[in-house]
Amino acid sequence: MHDPDVSLTGSLSAGKMASSNSARYRLARSGEKSRRHSSAEGLPVSETQEFRHAPVMAREIVETFAEVPAGHIVDATLGGAGHSVALLDARDDISIIGVDRDEVALAAARQRLGHFGGRAKPRHASFGDLGAVLAGVLPEVGATQVSGALFDLGVSSPQLDGAERGFSYRVEAPLDMRMDRSQTLTAADVVNTYERDELARILREHADERFARRIADAIITARPITTTSQLTATVTAAIPAATRRRGGHPAKRTFQALRIEVNTELEQLPRALEAAIDATCENGRVAVISYHSGEDRIVKDVFRRAETGGCTCRPGLPCGCGATPRVKRVRVPRHPSHAEIQSNPRARSARFRVVEKLAASTASKGQR
Ligand SMILES: C[S@@+](CC[C@H](N)C(=O)[O-])C[C@H]1O[C@@H](n2cnc3c(N)ncnc32)[C@H](O)[C@@H]1O
Repeated sequence: MHDPDVSLTGSLSAGKMASSNSARYRLARSGEKSRRHSSAEGLPVSETQEFRHAPVMAREIVETFAEVPAGHIVDATLGGAGHSVALLDARDDISIIGVDRDEVALAAARQRLGHFGGRAKPRHASFGDLGAVLAGVLPEVGATQVSGALFDLGVSSPQLDGAERGFSYRVEAPLDMRMDRSQTLTAADVVNTYERDELARILREHADERFARRIADAIITARPITTTSQLTATVTAAIPAATRRRGGHPAKRTFQALRIEVNTELEQLPRALEAAIDATCENGRVAVISYHSGEDRIVKDVFRRAETGGCTCRPGLPCGCGATPRVKRVRVPRHPSHAEIQSNPRARSARFRVVEKLAASTASKGQR
């Protein structure tokens, strides 16, 4: 069941991070509080220094990749590199190709991964372009395939809690929500320019919002809306009082829907997963942690298609259509442990799926 309280992220806020969590990280502080700029990225040092995010299901991720062939693993949502560090620490014979569309996350990841030298290659890109990214990086590292790929979807704690990012109804900020701040479309553009029907559609499709039409009407009446607090007040007033008292903050779903729209999150996912499966070698694995039902549905569909090879035959009958399965499903825990959810409430909605690439000879037998 979709949990609106934690649907925005799979991460742990810095303030709540359990000090005993071995996978946590903290970037070294220089002690200087002014907004200096890092020489590498031209980003405010204060943003990269404070980039703290507890990786969700880190133990399960390390176990998932424990026996894939030696080589390169794509971390398609590098974030603060928590998962990447755990993987690099766990195995000397793998290296990481890391992708993130957020320059602040990437700058933090570069610092965090620095001591691994050439074993970590962070790249600024959207995972929707994963095929092109790999076409560029693989020849550089002398490889033709990867040993696996990891997607830890959604936003990180620093994005969510950052004072200027506008992702959260809890933090007063301009309505921005861009993961990649070089893109032009912001949440303010969506809120202030989309037609009523379009607004209602994204609220329904991206966040299962029951009151999509009421909220869309209220937004249109309140325009222009430029800050998170204005939007929060508008949405809250649009939701019936009885509902407001139940089920978490009334603006959560609206913020989630806007974030997904601004960052075209659901559009990019199928082609990114296809590219990851294509690029993965025999016995390599593709693992996804998703945080809401829309994402999980896409992951399930793409994996199912790869598993059946797109077979169109009646279930239960031997395959006669010549479909070629490309992967098999790997049994893994579907959710974080109770203990992890206790120490990291934002992990509560995480859902985990993994597939393993089949040998070409196995695949051609047409298993279903
Ligand atoms: C939940 S965080 C990942 C945290 C990371 N696993 C860690 O351990 O620190 C998700 C990250 O994915 C990035 N991201 C989301 N959508 C993306 C996309 N389409 N392409 C590239 N990066 C994306 C976000 O910028 C964010 O940094």
